[in-house]
Amino acid sequence: MSWYKIDSLEEYFKAYRESVDQPEKFWEDIAEENFVWRKKWDKVLEYDLHEAQVKWFLNAKLNITENCIDRHLAERGEKTAILWEPNDPNEAAKQITYKELYHQVNRFANVLKSKGIGKGDRVCIYLPMIPELAYAVLACARIGAIHSVVFAGFSATALATRINDSECKMVITSDGAFRGGKTIDLKGIVDEALEQCSCVENVLVAKRINSDIELKENRDHWLQPLLDEAADSCEAETMDAEDPLFILYTSGSTGKPKGMLHTTAGYMVYSSFTFKNIFQYQEEDIYWCTADIGWITGHSYIIYGPLANGATTVMFEGVPSYPDFGRFWEVVQKHKIHQFYTAPTAIRALAKENLDFVENYDLSSLKVLGTVGEPINEEAWHWYNDHVGKKKNPIVDTWWQTETGGIMISPIPYVTPTKPTYATLPLPGIQPGLMDETGKEIIGNQAEGRLCIKFPWPSMARTIWGDHQRYKETYFTAFPGNYFTGDGALRDEVGYYRITGRVDDVIIVSGHNLGTAPIEDAINEHPAVAESAIVGFPHDIKGNALYGYVILKETGEGRDRDNLRKEINQEISDKIGPIAKLNKIQFVPGLPKTRSGKIMRRILRKIASGDTSNLGDTSTLLNPEVVEHIMTHVIKD
Ligand code: WT7
Repeated sequence: MSWYKIDSLEEYFKAYRESVDQPEKFWEDIAEENFVWRKKWDKVLEYDLHEAQVKWFLNAKLNITENCIDRHLAERGEKTAILWEPNDPNEAAKQITYKELYHQVNRFANVLKSKGIGKGDRVCIYLPMIPELAYAVLACARIGAIHSVVFAGFSATALATRINDSECKMVITSDGAFRGGKTIDLKGIVDEALEQCSCVENVLVAKRINSDIELKENRDHWLQPLLDEAADSCEAETMDAEDPLFILYTSGSTGKPKGMLHTTAGYMVYSSFTFKNIFQYQEEDIYWCTADIGWITGHSYIIYGPLANGATTVMFEGVPSYPDFGRFWEVVQKHKIHQFYTAPTAIRALAKENLDFVENYDLSSLKVLGTVGEPINEEAWHWYNDHVGKKKNPIVDTWWQTETGGIMISPIPYVTPTKPTYATLPLPGIQPGLMDETGKEIIGNQAEGRLCIKFPWPSMARTIWGDHQRYKETYFTAFPGNYFTGDGALRDEVGYYRITGRVDDVIIVSGHNLGTAPIEDAINEHPAVAESAIVGFPHDIKGNALYGYVILKETGEGRDRDNLRKEINQEISDKIGPIAKLNKIQFVPGLPKTRSGKIMRRILRKIASGDTSNLGDTSTLLNPEVVEHIMTHVIKD
């Protein structure tokens, strides 16, 4: 029996049981029946979580693009694989069939090869949401190059850090990007980044906004003429199950971004399996995930998961507010979307606007609504359910992470009864555990603790690029033998999970995962700043916003405070990107510190959120007097 698609609660429980009792058999059956392999595995799983070592489908050979494209050609050649919707609703959408996708990807793969890219080379992709982004990702996979997509909202410095960390040989970008009413000079950002990168040999430039850019000789090339010359078929490279597929950077609570490495077979099996079940995709459905391909959501649930299932996946270039707040719903009506997958921050932003924006459109095609990226609050959940789903579409609140590669805890629509703000039950193969502060697992329902995963699953990240020690320390040492997620969670009386949020120094702002350390480092580079501490505070739309406490150097004391605030935010924008800008900046004489010198963020968080009750015992602090000062000068709205 294969459990690839689960249709009833009873089946879910059976599948879950089997996946725990016989995990290898469970995944082997799914892998066997639903994918094409050049050679099958010798062994399904080998692991040692204490050493952060995991291998799935050992010695199997495959190419993921054959699973995502080639095998569909016979029966779905004329079916739309990618439905591209542009930023401007007056520009025509594009239907890219599986056949066309095949030729585009093959041509692109040949271009990569002609520029010296081969198996194992890293290619950085810095593109807006245009079809070339999907082609580039798949072209890398076709020849075994490792793609590293960097979200096109990151700054030149952030881009350079990521290019250098994985020593990318090539960058693929465009002359610019449309984003709502604005255009963004992507090529300019790449040029600036590359001043700091000596590893990059070639830059391919797609044309999108027709801006007047300069091509650097012997380095930069327009993409289109190269594609026009390239042959439209390219033999897919034979990849080992554990060969790297991609690197994707995510912020850590300390230090530089972590290049999470995902490998081929396990990632393919798990992203496809979860796509099929969580969206209950049927052959004629049109599926839309609004994420950017620069995040893991886009990798797994715009590209790989949907295409491996032969689905029609929408790729949207625009933003929810352009030309007005009805854009999402206009697109749902226009393309008759069946599954719609977005983020709580977008829902909250739209819920603030006039209801006409949603009620003016026919949303009757919708069958499943999804959310991802941060806890969804009760109010947003109900707005989504009432006004978008008209109380008839199940909401799948999907919990997962860049590191997990695929959705881990989520309802299966029309199967698992939903409960507002609960991600509900683990998917088959996922064994969550809640741990207390002493590291012991809390058994039984009605529990709250730190969320761990106790057994390997196929799409887990295998390492941090270039730093396995850091991988082990970050995820496998807090609760030895378990993967620690960094999130807190509670389990209710029936065993449903609710994710309560991060328990480390990562703050999720508008669904973007931001580490406090890199932001503080950026602020501290400002010549007038001595020290700083960042905390999150609750925000209506963003979920969390950033509050900065900044100690000035003597030289900064006389300066105009508002100008300083602007300069500090500019510094952050330049080093990381506009998403990391601070909402509020308070200049303080000192930061509350423990006697060992650690900043007491707990206190700062409370003050920033306007809650000054129960600050706890501050007398053990090195400098208790500073707390009083900070409280009296706190910045309110
Ligand atoms: C963190 C991972 C997975 C794609 C998007 C974010 C938070 C994610 C949920 C959810 C509550 C959620 C967690 C997690 N998160 N989904 N449904 N409910 N929290 O990927 O950038 O790696 O962030 O996002 O805190 O650890 P990411």
